[in-house]
Amino acid sequence: MQDEFNDVQRSYGRCLQSNNFIARFYDILMDSHPSMRPMFARTDLGRQRRALRRGITSAILYAGGSDLVSGTIREMAQVHSRAGRAPVKPELYRYWMNSLVQAVNEADPQASPALEKRWRKALTPVIDTFVEHY
Ligand code: HEM
Repeated sequence: MQDEFNDVQRSYGRCLQSNNFIARFYDILMDSHPSMRPMFARTDLGRQRRALRRGITSAILYAGGSDLVSGTIREMAQVHSRAGRAPVKPELYRYWMNSLVQAVNEADPQASPALEKRWRKALTPVIDTFVEHY
């Protein structure tokens, strides 16, 4: 049977209920590597938080094999490609991943090492796609 990552979607739902989850994630991300903060220097962080909320939902659906989000994922990959508005060097994605799981571990009352593994598995396809399109 196909893995739709419902456990990860439910965990994400719990994280979003602790309403500063996305803001906390950005704080962790900014401090995770010296090149992060300058990349967001000209970004409207309110708008960015809303974009990322949707981005994470799409990423989890994409990991579950949903065709509905392939267009969205392609657009996000373009934005982060060498030629895009916000190019992201492939080696930076591990900091993004580590920052997100840290934010989840802080926010989800049901966080566990097993759930962290599931999150990492769910976020890997979108990151692989971004790297492929860099
Ligand atoms: C190290 C990793 C990453 C960095 C440094 C980064 C940085 C950025 C920056 C600077 C922007 C542009 C904001 C602007 O328009 O001013 C952006 C947009 C965005 N990012 Fe990322 N990003 C990263 C990874 C990701 C990942 C893995 C996802 C998906 C889950 C994602 C989803 C988005 C979305 C949805 C937008 C908005 C695109 C739009 O405005 O059309 N980002 N990112």
